[in-house]
Amino acid sequence: MEENNNNIFEPRIIAFVCNWCTYAGADLTGTSRIKYATNVEIVRFPCTGRIDFMLLLKAFAGGADGIIISGCHPNDCHYTSGNFHARRRWMVFRDMLDFMGIDIERIRWSWVSAAEGAKWADVVNDTVGKIREMGPYTEYKKAAKFLEEEKIIHE
Ligand code: FES
Repeated sequence: MEENNNNIFEPRIIAFVCNWCTYAGADLTGTSRIKYATNVEIVRFPCTGRIDFMLLLKAFAGGADGIIISGCHPNDCHYTSGNFHARRRWMVFRDMLDFMGIDIERIRWSWVSAAEGAKWADVVNDTVGKIREMGPYTEYKKAAKFLEEEKIIHE
C-alpha cells in the first residue's frame, strides 16, 4: 500500500484505453496542462474491443486497487463497433467477476473522446477519490489464488 507524505492512501489505478479516443484525450489533458492525479498507469490498446478482460484480473492480482476502461463514445469507434463488442462482453464478464467475489465497484467504464482532455482528468480524479475512500484492494490475493487453482493464469 502506498501512502504519500500526509499518510493518505495513494491507490494504484490501471487504465485500459483505446488508442484513437481516450489515449489521445489523455494526451490532450497533458498538452493542455490540466492537472490530475498521477495514480494512473495507462495501457493502450488499438480499440476497447481488443481488451482481454482477463487482464483486469491480472491487474488486480498484480496489486492494482482500481481499474479504468475507456474508449471512444458509442458510434465513434475507429473500427465501427469495437466498443459495442467490448461493452457486450463486459456485461457477461462483469457477472463472472462478481460471482468470483471480485469487487466490481473498483472497475470504472467511461467514454472519453480525443477532444475531452478535461473529461479524462475528471474520470481519473473521481476514480482515484472513490478508490481512496474504498481503501487498498487486498482481496486481489483471492483472485490470484482462484486463477492459479483454475490454471487460468500462470505466474
Ligand atoms: Fe476507440 Fe474502438 S477505437 S473504442
